[in-house]
Amino acid sequence: MRPIYAGILHGGDYNPEQWPEAVWADDMRLMKAAGCNAMTVGVFAWSRLEPAEGVYTFDWLDRIMDLLHANGLRAVLATPSAAHPPWLSRKYPEVLRTASTRIRQEHRVRVNYCLTSPVYRRACAAMAKQLALRYQNHPALMLWHVGNEYHDDCHCELCQQAFREWLQRKYNSLEKLNEAWDTAIWSHRYEDWAEVRSPQPWPAGEWSMLALGMDWRRFVTDQSVACFRNEADVIRKITPDIPLTTNMHQTTWGFMDWARFAPHVDVMCWDNYPEYHADAGDVARAIEVGFAHDFYRSAKRQPFLMMESNPGSAQGKRQKRPGIHRLQSLQAIAHGSDSVQYFQWRNCRSATEKYHGAVVNHDGRSDTRVFCEVAALGRELAALGEVRGTPVTTDIAVVYDKQVHWAAEYSTTARWDRRSYIQTAHAHYGSFWKQGLNVDVIESTADLSPYKILVAPVLYLLRPGVAESIRRFVEQGGTFITSYWSGYVDENDRAFQGGFPGPLRELLGVRSEELDCLDPEEENRIQMTPGNGLGLSGEGVVHHFSDVLHAEGAEVLATFVGQYYAGRPAITRRRVGKGTAYYVGALMDDAFLDRFYAAVLKDAGVTPFLSEPPPPGLCVRTREGQSGCFVFLLNFAPETRVLTGLAKATLVSGTAEKAAAGWSVPANGAAVLRLNMNPA
Ligand code: GAL
Repeated sequence: MRPIYAGILHGGDYNPEQWPEAVWADDMRLMKAAGCNAMTVGVFAWSRLEPAEGVYTFDWLDRIMDLLHANGLRAVLATPSAAHPPWLSRKYPEVLRTASTRIRQEHRVRVNYCLTSPVYRRACAAMAKQLALRYQNHPALMLWHVGNEYHDDCHCELCQQAFREWLQRKYNSLEKLNEAWDTAIWSHRYEDWAEVRSPQPWPAGEWSMLALGMDWRRFVTDQSVACFRNEADVIRKITPDIPLTTNMHQTTWGFMDWARFAPHVDVMCWDNYPEYHADAGDVARAIEVGFAHDFYRSAKRQPFLMMESNPGSAQGKRQKRPGIHRLQSLQAIAHGSDSVQYFQWRNCRSATEKYHGAVVNHDGRSDTRVFCEVAALGRELAALGEVRGTPVTTDIAVVYDKQVHWAAEYSTTARWDRRSYIQTAHAHYGSFWKQGLNVDVIESTADLSPYKILVAPVLYLLRPGVAESIRRFVEQGGTFITSYWSGYVDENDRAFQGGFPGPLRELLGVRSEELDCLDPEEENRIQMTPGNGLGLSGEGVVHHFSDVLHAEGAEVLATFVGQYYAGRPAITRRRVGKGTAYYVGALMDDAFLDRFYAAVLKDAGVTPFLSEPPPPGLCVRTREGQSGCFVFLLNFAPETRVLTGLAKATLVSGTAEKAAAGWSVPANGAAVLRLNMNPA
């Protein structure tokens, strides 16, 4: 993709169609004052662009595009397909979404469309074509933004039929489907394709067949990608040189498998709405958000865009404390974003989001706290233009796989309400975060060749080929770490026979005979084996999950202290080929994980960027610039933090001070340094 802008994008969702034109000139003045350069227009503007079928009213958008250009601003031009007009629903009820109750919804809210309806697809493609033809040569046009946050499903008869066809393509025969879904259980065997229906929550319909649920989610993701492609393909034909994307959401949100969009967009982008409470210090939240940023960057192994964020507060929620907006924005840049975009530019006057944080609030003033913070950030981002497009490099990958997430959370066998798949992934990722290391967050099926360390906690479901690719990774010298509750089911949620962790058993050299789910108040401990190869001593604390483990060729690094499996293996390691495979057979406390990973890094020969880990709460991340490395210091701790080392770095921007002891960063502060050589 060619660079879409010389520097970092700064701007956000702009809805001029909600305002009289008299406000527009003021908007332009304020956008410039706020240091904006990229505004997203048209996201939900369908009824203003096509008030009746085939009647297009682009005149107002022409004037907005011209105004943006005249004021030195670029347009992220959206197709309005996420909010179709009432006339379309009235004339063609099939475009409306049907809930899992099988009741067709009325025209409502937005994202209220059927994912299959040919009428809806035709209407979207026609609108996309008109927009592309009209603005293909407009100088303000910078990036296409198709739809808005694809989410949820539609259960109408069109979708049911499309699902069956999707299944027919996947399984070829009903016999194969019956086998894959294990329909012998509870007499679910299908004799006719017409018997296959989408899942429904209890008690209304079929919720017990997890394989059906998994395939339904895959199908819904594919249908959403198809809706995206329906518009994108039309636009690409007309403007092949203008990049194109859609805005996604938190990795954990809804049941969209966002990674499936990666091959179809030119740049990944997502909408980031964390609730940071700075005065308490918010390291856990910073780790979660960093993880999501890393997921979106890793999905295409290139910088991404943060397409929405909230410069103020979500309505009715705690206001972001001064400085937090800047910290959150620089966090995105540190993890590989090339933008800081907002929802929204100007507070809307009505409906549910009228008190949602915005750059310009109902005052319409430029001297509010939020506006001033945005404007100051705009100046800072302009000075950081060189960071745009620079890569984030790393030897370490943590696996986050939406299909594993679905299966783990669907499973009724373990107490996942206590500690979910994603929390465990965050905990392991957090150890690297605390070491000041860049990390990629990848799907289990991703190419592993760029990495030296692969961490896949709770790899509960093994997609086809994953066990083989992990084995190759280890044999060729990689270090692989996985945990309890890994290698349990195949992609159709069928338990592996012959011992867990299933196809990973031989590589890891362990067999888990039982998985013990402790009561919430219970605690166990592990004891490092004297003289263990990792050089660790002492104990670690266990909650919730532990394996009753047999070492089958693996070296025992730690054993359980309590319970009926006291003295049995808890953590193991096996050298295979040129590499190493670790098994962490319990849900360990964070302090232990931090010690464990520090030792694993050493054993794997991965040298952390910093000679000492940064002080608690201070996140250190790097992007590789042409003229040196940009080092981001982000202080999520409630007090000043001092980073020792990096004496040769220079301050590019921000609130860090170089003191005798090192770089001092105040609470909620953030700074960018430049380093031209190895840290000293
Ligand atoms: C996003 C959505 C925006 C706006 C925002 C409010 O998910 O794309 O249109 O509703 O949430 O936080």
